[in-house]
Amino acid sequence: MFIGIDLGTSSVKMILVDNNQQILATSNSALTVKSPKDGYSEQDPSEWIDATLKCLTSLKKKKPKEFVETISIGISGHMHGATLIDDNQNIIRPCILWNDTRSFKECEEFEDQDFDVRSISGNITMSGFTAPKINWIKKNEPENFKKIFKVLLPKDFLRLFLTGEYFSEMSDASGTLWLDIKQRKWSNELLSSSFLEEKHMPKLSEGNEPTGIVKKSIKEKFGFNKEVVVVGGAGDNAASAVGMGIINENQSFISLGTSGVFFTPTQNFLSNTGDAVHSFCHCLPNKWHLMSVMLSASNCLDWICKITNTSIDEALKNIENYFSESNLKSSTTYFLPYLSGERTPHNDPHIRGSFHSLKTTTPPVELQYAVIEGVSFGILDGINSILKVNSNFENIFMVGGGSRSIFWNELLASLLNRELSICDQSEFGAALGVARLAMYQDTNIHNKNNIIKEIKITKIYQPKESKFEQLHKRYVIWKDLYENNKNISKKIIS
Ligand code: XUL
Repeated sequence: MFIGIDLGTSSVKMILVDNNQQILATSNSALTVKSPKDGYSEQDPSEWIDATLKCLTSLKKKKPKEFVETISIGISGHMHGATLIDDNQNIIRPCILWNDTRSFKECEEFEDQDFDVRSISGNITMSGFTAPKINWIKKNEPENFKKIFKVLLPKDFLRLFLTGEYFSEMSDASGTLWLDIKQRKWSNELLSSSFLEEKHMPKLSEGNEPTGIVKKSIKEKFGFNKEVVVVGGAGDNAASAVGMGIINENQSFISLGTSGVFFTPTQNFLSNTGDAVHSFCHCLPNKWHLMSVMLSASNCLDWICKITNTSIDEALKNIENYFSESNLKSSTTYFLPYLSGERTPHNDPHIRGSFHSLKTTTPPVELQYAVIEGVSFGILDGINSILKVNSNFENIFMVGGGSRSIFWNELLASLLNRELSICDQSEFGAALGVARLAMYQDTNIHNKNNIIKEIKITKIYQPKESKFEQLHKRYVIWKDLYENNKNISKKIIS
């Protein structure tokens, strides 16, 4: 048996998997995100532990005999969060999350060095990444900065709780900006840009390598029969990729979760810093990946449904009924989906969301449509940025909450002019991905090459030509809206 833990932004999801990769039990426990100011996004790491304990308890309750036979555990988590630990293993302050944009000024400071930061980190410095957050803390909370013993990524804090070990792995460590992406090791130069040293970092592993065993107290609490190994695991996107079997360069996926992601593996290190493409290590040795990230994807839909007092299911049904091809016009409302700034392709922490072409007659359903379309246009922007350096992918898998909407999948297939595949169990994709990485530690599995395979496709969405043309006309206008608004945003939010 293997356990996959996915520390998501809105909940911890956990699965118990057998040797045939059948999911025997699942559990879920909600988390809260606090936003004390516009642009701020924080979480209390002790909530992660409580939620993890709840999920473990629930898995054990559902499958007690199988649960205690667990051999190994994989952990995945939302990336980039700065979890600061003092030398007594206390949490110094709430974790600053991946979608927090407060450190935009420190991004410039981080890059203002006498060496080329981007060529080592492979990435442009963006405020969501871990490094500029530490520079912000040094400037704004010097007492907290002084207390730093280790800086951990969210899932690596869970690992510390489970094993007592300080470890990270390559895919998540890539999002700190302190990793030399080509060499797969911490860069002392990059660390010095945040006034840190390698001693402040956890050790590094690959995602399928062991990083420690579950502590005695936890082993006894849950009655595990064996010494349970915890593997490196992966950042949530690399973990989802492994969950779907996406480890080769002709494969790719779109995730419509809180963030909107397009992800495709590469055999070598490639980068496009000009368009704020993320260039990270994959969670298996000698593999890398490119990724575009939108900060607000399905949470734009949550937001519009909340303020129009409609459930998501109802909104999707209304949109589908209202928007036949004939009533989508160039004057239909547009939406810029930048509720908390944007990464790919703009790297713009100042921009915020906006509606355009509102009329006295605009009904709520048109706003809801505009939101789905605006997020889809953002995904297209991301894919176009990646296509500039890599066009090696064909079919695209869909994952994340938004991919449960038939309407949204159909719209995206037409907009991207590509087939989109929906697969089994995609809801637990990241947890399945790290459970698969955990399987590498089972000595009874002799052919490890069979662990990661593509999971079953349940439906394929085909593009529609007429819709493609209509949407592309609107996409051209939508792109102009950002170009014309970006300078105004800088005056509003600075
Ligand atoms: C990736 C990113 C998000 C988070 C949360 O760079 O910031 O996808 O990992 O899911």
